[in-house]
Amino acid sequence: MRISVLGVGYVGLILSVSLADFGFEVTGIDIDNKKIDKLKRGKSVLHEDGLNKLLEKHVNKNLTFTTSYESVTSSDIIFLCVGTPQNKNGEANLNFLFSAADKIKAYLDRKEYKVIVIKSTVPVGTNRKIKELFSDYNIDVVSNPEFLREGIALQDFFNPKRIVLGFESLKNKRPIILMEEVYNYFKEKDVPFIITKWETAELIKYASNAFLATKISYVNELSKLADKVGADIKIISHSMGLDPRIGNKFLNAGIGYGGSCFPKDVRALIRQFEDNRVEPTLIKATDKVNEEQIIWFFNKIKEYFNNNINQKTFAVLGLAFKPNTDDLRESRGIKLIDLLLKEGAIVKGFDYVEKARENAINIYKSDKSEASYGYNLYILDNIYETVKDVDGIVITTEYNFNKEDWEKIKKLIKNKVVFDGRNTLDAGKIKKLGFEYYGVGR
Ligand code: UDX
Repeated sequence: MRISVLGVGYVGLILSVSLADFGFEVTGIDIDNKKIDKLKRGKSVLHEDGLNKLLEKHVNKNLTFTTSYESVTSSDIIFLCVGTPQNKNGEANLNFLFSAADKIKAYLDRKEYKVIVIKSTVPVGTNRKIKELFSDYNIDVVSNPEFLREGIALQDFFNPKRIVLGFESLKNKRPIILMEEVYNYFKEKDVPFIITKWETAELIKYASNAFLATKISYVNELSKLADKVGADIKIISHSMGLDPRIGNKFLNAGIGYGGSCFPKDVRALIRQFEDNRVEPTLIKATDKVNEEQIIWFFNKIKEYFNNNINQKTFAVLGLAFKPNTDDLRESRGIKLIDLLLKEGAIVKGFDYVEKARENAINIYKSDKSEASYGYNLYILDNIYETVKDVDGIVITTEYNFNKEDWEKIKKLIKNKVVFDGRNTLDAGKIKKLGFEYYGVGR
């Protein structure tokens, strides 16, 4: 089977290497010349465990990368994996998707049967619109949302909890059989297949992401009460999670969720409710709580310094929105750095991932204000250099910082206080060493 993957960003690249690993002939297509050049040489363009190994194994064998759309002519299946970023009003921007669909047309023979699969996260009704674009072509459109988590995307790809496939009609077996063939590896492993209509498949993705985001916002809201009354949110979460009806995942209180999916998908879901004149009361609150959480935590830091952090120096540990990625999109660490810089603080930022540090420098390099890189902001590649002489440490990404030498940190730091925005530290141990410790809701 020949497969084309349009858009080799995060989702498309993981999909391309994985389908190649299943043995299919895969062509990854992207308009970004630089990216394609690198991929052609078997070099990854993003930080993801195991990706380089799979690229080396398949590139220039059964996996090729190109900027040309030509391969779609001979493909049985064309996956659309382009980005659907957020517009100013919260809705998903579908320009890349429609432009890619439009470009494909010139390379297709109207009579030749093909399946177009939409992997991009798209609002309800999009699969139908794409089908309309191809109304005079022999084409079926399939909705196939993905649920990969950054940092462990390959592991997630090969161990999915479900495969969701949405079709125009379940009576037409041809695209169903073809998609089951693509994912036969999972069929054999008894992974549940959800075969349903377009609209249901489209909503499953938003429903899942918004639910997880809501779990996080729920526990984050509770953390503020726990903080006030002297309760420990970590113990509350643990105890809640022991009830299998609740489950123990995504109940870690912190400074909020970030990344390329949760914030954008929650807002896009709100828009879909509003467009259909249904009030999204709960989901709106999820977004609001998330936006407020970082401000609440920032105010907690400020209060410690009598509301004046001008010229105070902070070590911000964690730049990416979560561990082991280089992705700074909607990162709470970056939001916190912005807040600190805005009030005149000096920030020394650190992340274990080199590319995350590079990306952070690039964000601030272009800024000509006092908040720019090299002025009030420094990004360092050594945690001990980062904490040297600072007035406080702020933890913004849930790395296991317990493994660091806190005796050494104690000697390097100017003022022994830690604001643990992810509740990752062993608070008892830290306090015993003489640090003041402030977590989220504990
Ligand atoms: C998420 C979904 O998990 C995935 O299924 C979907 O395909 C894409 O969106 P990802 O964005 O990679 O994946 O990140 P995830 O690991 O889910 O974490 C998202 C954010 O939530 C992070 O900023 C993380 O710090 C935060 N989080 C997570 C919490 O604050 N508390 C938790 O308990 C869990």
